[in-house]
Amino acid sequence: MSSGVEAYKEFFETNIIPPSWKDRSWSKEDFRKFHQSTVESKKALEEWWVKWANELFWFKKWDKVLDDSNPPFYRWFVGGEINLAYLDTDWQIEKGRKNKVALIWEGEPWDETLKQPKEVKKFTYYDLYRESNVISYALKEKLGVKKGDILTFYLPMIPELPFYMLAVQRLGVGHSIVFSGFSAEALAARILDSGSKIIVTADGFYRRGKVVSLKPIVEEALKICEKNGLTIQKVIVVKRAGIDIPWNSERDVWHHELISGIPPTVKVPAERCTESIISHILYTSGTTGTPKAVQRSAGGYAVGLYATMKMIFDAKDDDIFWCTADVGWITGHSYVVYGPLLVGLTTVMYEGSPDYPEPDRWWSIIERYGVTIFYTAPTAIRMLMRFPEDLIRRHDLSTLRVVHTVGEPINPEAFNWYYKNIGREDVVASSTWWMTETGHIITGHFPGLGKLFPLKPGTNGYALPGVTLEVVDDDGNPCPPGVRGYFVITSPWPGMLETLYKNPQRYIDAYWSRFKGKMYFYTGDFAVKDQDGYVWVLGRADDVLKVAGHRIGTAEIESALIRHPAVAESACVGKTDPIKGQVPVVFTVLKKGFKPSPEVEAEIRKYLRATIGPIVASDVIITFVDSVPKTRSGKIMRRLLRAVVEGATLGDITTLEDGVAVEEAIKAYEAIKTAIGEKKG
Ligand code: WT7
Repeated sequence: MSSGVEAYKEFFETNIIPPSWKDRSWSKEDFRKFHQSTVESKKALEEWWVKWANELFWFKKWDKVLDDSNPPFYRWFVGGEINLAYLDTDWQIEKGRKNKVALIWEGEPWDETLKQPKEVKKFTYYDLYRESNVISYALKEKLGVKKGDILTFYLPMIPELPFYMLAVQRLGVGHSIVFSGFSAEALAARILDSGSKIIVTADGFYRRGKVVSLKPIVEEALKICEKNGLTIQKVIVVKRAGIDIPWNSERDVWHHELISGIPPTVKVPAERCTESIISHILYTSGTTGTPKAVQRSAGGYAVGLYATMKMIFDAKDDDIFWCTADVGWITGHSYVVYGPLLVGLTTVMYEGSPDYPEPDRWWSIIERYGVTIFYTAPTAIRMLMRFPEDLIRRHDLSTLRVVHTVGEPINPEAFNWYYKNIGREDVVASSTWWMTETGHIITGHFPGLGKLFPLKPGTNGYALPGVTLEVVDDDGNPCPPGVRGYFVITSPWPGMLETLYKNPQRYIDAYWSRFKGKMYFYTGDFAVKDQDGYVWVLGRADDVLKVAGHRIGTAEIESALIRHPAVAESACVGKTDPIKGQVPVVFTVLKKGFKPSPEVEAEIRKYLRATIGPIVASDVIITFVDSVPKTRSGKIMRRLLRAVVEGATLGDITTLEDGVAVEEAIKAYEAIKTAIGEKKG
């Protein structure tokens, strides 16, 4: 297996960094020194980011680069006025990209006779500009939407999603996008928390050859909102599937009717947004039952996206960029929509499933559009790895030059398969670590870097220049190389979340209070640095799971389960899965009068689909037990349960839970083992 070093380009290729850094020829030492300077000096750190910020268009430049007077409420580019929609469309047009294709969208339906997708739509930068201006106009003039509002989008992967995103950015209005795989309850909780009065959705969409209807879910969610005192003013519905849907003629409006009659050339001035204006909020899972909304503005976010598009992806003018993530997640916000457009690329968006009509759909998309940069999740790679390699060889993937992954650790086997079969051992490839909270990529092995730091399959590489990371112990002191610790970010970075929406205290508690006396951002991950300084993120250190790349708190699953009439108690832990990374195992105690049976299990699973949503619910393993093992203080013995599901031996469990007698732990372990054994038998 080639290390891939030969394939790497010169370290820091000239056009990937701001001008004044161009002429430096870097050595390993230089690189390390530079990193060290950003750790030690706030000035060096700020200078680096200012160089990037200066490459963007600002209506007015900032008064202060970084306001750190009230940590952890850091503010970047204070007083600077910027607009994401302006940067993604107007500014690109000014740069001469008016007729360049900005977005290629492919619908899922497949024409078997012609062996091609039934629908492909291409939008130039000018098209995007016009489409989003028309929507901005409609929202502003017809619905009275104004700067500072937040709209909820519950939309599938259709072009109207980026149109609406850009439309609200233009108005200085924030969006809260809820992934279209979420259930009515999850949607309702997010609408209620955000207080959105306008929802944008679709009648349905295509997935694995079937129509999935969305509007009925919205209907249900709005009933819940109503019960909780929130009346929705308008539901805008995009017609995608052409199916019958429930309709409330006072409240609902078709997207095409909302915009009808508005001249396609209408222009709405882009609002000048400072750091005080919310560009978006996005809900993500933590260790409690209630999701939290990460909140950020536009300026620092744009700077971080621009820099990572250049440094990590090595974006060049003729690149065709495809990030397979759903726009409902941060990866899609940042690298399907805002990031690629910010640097004037053509971004690809695909509606459906990777294995429809056959598991070579993705490879056919790469071939059809000549994709040069590809960004996907390890779980998808592990799924596609199972199929014969002929499926790949049917397609010409030679246009690819950068292929990264994101979302969860990638095992070397999957990485090597990806690098060899998709990357032809002739690409830049790495596992880029970041999270909803960071807004943009934080670590990765980037183009050119491999000459100095050879690629290691599965590593997260080095911190992005301008980001300071550490792996620390319980007291916040750096761990020696090879020793596992907590992964922290030790100084502010531009795309960072600015708070949790309407919940500043939870922001402090969840991220900034882990290490006494140190203002470190706690990621919730375990990591290790190796002898060469490479970072390896090992997985979550808290009770958050990554199920096929989707983040879900075990507490969320437990709190959903406990509301089921048959469930007395439950405990959820993650189990390693060869494809999904992790799957949730729920130990469930039934109430008196209910007996474990396939029917009860099916019923509970159905309930989970309705509450937490189908994505995670279909992967849950349900195990009935008589009791859940607890410590004397009433805490669930999670580590013990984890040991059981991972098949650890008795010997491993004696030190698992604090304050639990060894005999007690062994008894609990045996009981659970027996329960599982009986179930299997
Ligand atoms: C969690 C964040 C924005 C990225 C998409 C997921 C895990 C993410 C990696 C990686 C190892 C990774 C971490 C992190 N994670 N990327 N390259 N290697 N782990 O965003 O849903 O907010 O999840 O995903 O555990 O904490 P997210």
